[in-house]
Amino acid sequence: MLEWLVSTIPLWKALHVIALCIWCGGLITLPLMLARHDPAISQNDYRVIRHATHLTYTTVVTPAAVVAVVAGTWLIFLREAFVPWLFAKLVFVALLLVLHAWIGGSIVRIAEEPGEHRPPNPYLPMTGITGCAIAILLLVLAKPELDWITFPDWLTEPRGGQLPFDVPSR
Ligand code: HEM
Repeated sequence: MLEWLVSTIPLWKALHVIALCIWCGGLITLPLMLARHDPAISQNDYRVIRHATHLTYTTVVTPAAVVAVVAGTWLIFLREAFVPWLFAKLVFVALLLVLHAWIGGSIVRIAEEPGEHRPPNPYLPMTGITGCAIAILLLVLAKPELDWITFPDWLTEPRGGQLPFDVPSR
């Protein structure tokens, strides 16, 4: 691989870690902010809190998630990390994304159904997010072999299938 590209690995890793700290920190903070959406408070206070959660989600937490995933994807190829611990890590990243979407859905429903939608108990998403983040950190820092996991052939070998349409030849 190009040497200069390999020399950028520490920069991608730094970007990855900074972005995922903002992402996971935001995902832990947002359920607490959501819990403040109490229909009993004044309309003005409700609007202020609703704006704050919406802005935090759209301008900080979601862009940080995108940067973390893009930098992480670059790192897979730069570090040639096609190994079981990485695939196990991606399962927990997928769960983290589901929780990210759940929180986003609640923020949208709070805006569209003011006073009707009750946000989830904050400890539920917070426990899920902390659990996923700890599992990911254990996998990425310990890098266990996980060679007892056997993948089926169709996941490890090219299947030689053809595209269902003609590809123009060069
Ligand atoms: C799609 C999402 C992600 C992808 C594709 C990805 C991929 C990667 C790759 C390939 C590395 C380099 C590993 C190495 O140098 O051996 C890495 C490093 C790292 N990742 Fe991720 N990652 C993702 C999300 C996350 C998340 C959500 C967390 C934590 C909650 C995380 C925590 C870390 C840490 C702490 C490192 C540095 C590990 C070290 O240098 O030993 N990553 N990631």
